[in-house]
Amino acid sequence: MNKATDHKLQSEVDKRRTFAIISHPDAGKTTLTEKLLLFGGAIRLAGTVKARKASKHATSDWMEIEKQRGISVTSSVMQFDYLDHRVNILDTPGHQDFSEDTYRTLTAADSAVMLIDVAKGVETQTIKLFQVCAKRGIPIFTFINKLDREGRSPFDLMEELENVLGIRSVPMNWPIGMGRELCGVYDRMKNQVELFQGDDHSVIKVQKVESYRDPIIREMAGEYLHDQLCADLELLDVAGDPFDYEKVLRGEITPVFFGSAINNFGVQTFLDNFLELAPKPEPRRSTAGAVEPTNEKFTGYVFKIQANMNPAHRDRIAFLRIVSGKFERGMSVKHVRAGKDIKLSQPQQFLAQDRDIVEEAYPGDIIGLFDPGIFRIGDTLSQAGDIEFDELPTFSPEIFSKVTIKNALKSKQFQKGIDQLTEEGMIQVFRTVNFDDILLGVVGQLQFEVFEYRMKGEYGVDVQLQRMSYQFARWIVDENKPDASKFRINSTLVTDKKGNYVVLFENEYAMRTAMEKNPTAKFLETAP
Ligand code: G4P
Repeated sequence: MNKATDHKLQSEVDKRRTFAIISHPDAGKTTLTEKLLLFGGAIRLAGTVKARKASKHATSDWMEIEKQRGISVTSSVMQFDYLDHRVNILDTPGHQDFSEDTYRTLTAADSAVMLIDVAKGVETQTIKLFQVCAKRGIPIFTFINKLDREGRSPFDLMEELENVLGIRSVPMNWPIGMGRELCGVYDRMKNQVELFQGDDHSVIKVQKVESYRDPIIREMAGEYLHDQLCADLELLDVAGDPFDYEKVLRGEITPVFFGSAINNFGVQTFLDNFLELAPKPEPRRSTAGAVEPTNEKFTGYVFKIQANMNPAHRDRIAFLRIVSGKFERGMSVKHVRAGKDIKLSQPQQFLAQDRDIVEEAYPGDIIGLFDPGIFRIGDTLSQAGDIEFDELPTFSPEIFSKVTIKNALKSKQFQKGIDQLTEEGMIQVFRTVNFDDILLGVVGQLQFEVFEYRMKGEYGVDVQLQRMSYQFARWIVDENKPDASKFRINSTLVTDKKGNYVVLFENEYAMRTAMEKNPTAKFLETAP
């Protein structure tokens, strides 16, 4: 092994941080992302973040549907350098219409930043995304945003994190006042205050202090706010959890930061602390055991495939998370599932408007590979032999539609489209047991729209989707073959693409009743 290369690989791994920001729509993810990028003087980003939300899509070649709606259909990646770090932010669409891709993207992150609106607290989308992260046990850092507005008490919010998400929290800083009274935050770790100054709060002054009792704070913030700060922090010192880094790394406790993204307040200290505490690229499990990022042999896996990024070329981009070794343009790697070597000649690291050919990349980085239809989600690319990384998780669909074809002459194309899009992980497909209807299951409404659009665009098939009232899918594992007649009321028995039995339920009551009536059966949220 070449020692110099070894050292270089180690230092490239050490400086990388790959994370996702998870939040409910409107919590301020776009705003925070933009501020983070500004600190980094972003070197590569997927269009400007804001431009994707607004209607500035003229030069972008994102999917047509994405342009029409002004949102990011599938998650993208932004990369920037800040101090000694190379930062990769995985963007997860926070819109109501997110999809399974959003969840899968989280598997490519080594940590997550959970953004919460101080007035709204923990919201539905945050809960779903949090649970996916928590299942993987990755560290989660919390940023409570919009402190310049009246919001809930920080203690209230901490309690909500624990009650709703089941995670305890350690405030890294603490607000001095809130809303119109907000005058700064106290940094509990560094013993310093960050204060807003000027009428429009545009100047931020950082002042080192002895402790939160320091009279300097009293002078700057006034008696009332200082008394409140002291009372809060005394309580936290006594009753709060101590900062335990090991627990943070195991995802058992979340460090909490308060700030206001739009005013750039608390953002830089958040970034500094986060980059110090967030883990560098982590090993991933494979058929050959854990693969360390510093393993010199290149490996990676595909976690997302985005179709039609450029409608003119109908190309697809497979997003690859590098797990180990150095990536070099033009290198040959084994496509393990396909059992053949392929050359990675046109990798792209920069998505959307200005795609950029990447010459080299390291563990933690995400690269986009041109995909002529050879990749599937979960595929492993390797120079380290025939290893395969753990399968990516699937998620229980929550929205269902019956799909039919408008023109029966196209049924061959229809079947091909369904097969391929299911294979790709775009949708989940089910067949009713007695009637052979085809039902599609998704986690976000948007997946149906993309499905319809791609069936027409890529397979020339017009489909009709009829929304069903089912809300839950449970895979049945039982010694006896399930009896369809038992699942008639507010439920139906279907099979998935592998022939597994699945019951779709209209409500929780129907699901609970079925479980009680079938005590020998197991009802699983995803395929066994
Ligand atoms: P999202 O990506 O999570 O959906 O949220 P986004 O950043 O677009 O922010 C949602 C709204 O919240 C925006 O206002 C944004 O300006 C505002 N916002 C973000 N951070 C803060 C903050 O720290 N304080 C306050 N007071 N507001 C904040 P909007 O009116 O919907 O959009 P815009 O007209 O400002 O673009």
